[in-house]
Amino acid sequence: MAILIGDTAPDFTADSTEGPIHFYDYIDGHWAVLFSHPKNFTPVCTTELGYTAKLKPEFDKRGVKVLGLSVDKLEDHGGWAKDIEETQGTALNFPLLADTKGEVARLYDMIHPNADNTLTVRSVFVIGPDKKVKLKIEYPASTGRNFDEVLRVIDSLQLTANHSVATPVNWKNGEDVIIASSLSNDAAKEKFPNGWKEPKPYLRIVPQPRA
Ligand code: BEZ
Repeated sequence: MAILIGDTAPDFTADSTEGPIHFYDYIDGHWAVLFSHPKNFTPVCTTELGYTAKLKPEFDKRGVKVLGLSVDKLEDHGGWAKDIEETQGTALNFPLLADTKGEVARLYDMIHPNADNTLTVRSVFVIGPDKKVKLKIEYPASTGRNFDEVLRVIDSLQLTANHSVATPVNWKNGEDVIIASSLSNDAAKEKFPNGWKEPKPYLRIVPQPRA
């Protein structure tokens, strides 16, 4: 059974560059990003891991724990981490799982056999503090992911988890948002006493609520 948005993220224990990881203990009530890499010592993965390490302060600011996964051996991760630091200018600063038996990869459907029988695709799971899957993205091995987009979605997920709003196309943190359709106009007046723009009755636009 595929893991879908809204499902509980499965727990697991696996070795990593920072010692054994028991997933639920690792996330410990935080938001989390779990993302897979098809193979060690490969160019696209090298750039992705370096860039994600650069973004670590941004993940920290949002209270997000980052966890990478590769199905290669832990002994190889160290040498690859050195290459990542050398070529991308940032050292790996979050754990990288060594999922040599592909157990976690299979648990999360990161292996798509018609693409490749052993390597993972580029999966990204964002998991909420309630351990539910909030976002799932899958890219083929040949296309590097956009981790600025992952951060952008986390901003939307964290905002919409706390306010009765949704975020429009290409929204970025700080821009106007949409009042959730589930909120009646009477309820919206209480939450947004300064009113809203309403080009259509179903499209009610307000400034982004502040924390
Ligand atoms: C890469 O990271 O460059 C890569 C990995 C597996 C297949 C294709 C490309």
